[in-house]
Amino acid sequence: MIRIGYIVGSLSSTSINRQVAQGLTSIAPEGVELVELDYSTLPQYSADHDADYPQAALAWKQSIEAVDGVIILTPEYLRSIPGSLKNALDWASRPWGTNSFDGKPVAIAGASVGSIGTAAAQQHLRSILAHLNAPTLGQPEVFLKFSPEDFGPDGAIVGDALRGILDGFLKAAHAHIAQHPGAATAA
Ligand SMILES: Cc1cc2nc3c(=O)[nH]c(=O)nc-3n(C[C@H](O)[C@H](O)[C@H](O)COP(=O)(O)O)c2cc1C
Repeated sequence: MIRIGYIVGSLSSTSINRQVAQGLTSIAPEGVELVELDYSTLPQYSADHDADYPQAALAWKQSIEAVDGVIILTPEYLRSIPGSLKNALDWASRPWGTNSFDGKPVAIAGASVGSIGTAAAQQHLRSILAHLNAPTLGQPEVFLKFSPEDFGPDGAIVGDALRGILDGFLKAAHAHIAQHPGAATAA
C-alpha cells in the first residue's frame, strides 16, 4: 500500500482544484491510498515562531512526513501559486534543518479557468520544490482548463478525456513515488 498525501492549493469552498483532487481519489487503484494534507489552520509564517513552533505547524509537518509522497493541485494566482500554499510550504521547510519535504517525492497538477491551465504557477512551484530538495515528477505535465461538464453532480469524473489525463497522471505519480522509497518517516 502506498499512501499519497494530496494538497489542494486553494482555500476556496468551491475550489475547482478540490474537484480535481476528488476526481483523482475516485480513480485511485487498489494499493494506492490518497489522504488530504490539510494546512487550512496555519497562521502566517514568521521566523519568530521558529523557537516555539505552534501545534498546527508541527501537525502539518508531521502529516507530510508520514506519507510516501505528495501530489499538489495548485490554482494559479497572478501567474504564481496562491499565497496560502506558499505559506504552507514555508512552514514545512522550517525550523532550519527540519525541512519536511527533504527527499519527499512530489507530483504536481493544476486547474484554472484560464487557458494556460496553471502552467505559470506550476513553473514557480517546481522552482520552490527544487529548493526543498523534493524530487518532482517531470511528465506528464497536467495543465487543466476547467470544464464544469467534466464532473457529475456527485463530483465523479464524467469526461472521458479528463479521466484519461488524470489516470495517466496518477499512474506516473504512483511510479515516481515508488521509485523513492524510504522518504516516509514514521506516522
Ligand atoms: C487572486 C486571483 C488571481 C488569479 N490569477 C489567475 C492567473 O494568474 N491565471 C489564471 O489562469 N487564473 C487566475 N485566477 C483565476 C483562477 O484560475 C480561478 O479563480 C480558479 O477557480 C482558482 O482555483 P480554485 O477554484 O481551485 O481556487 C485568479 C483568481 C484569483 C482569485
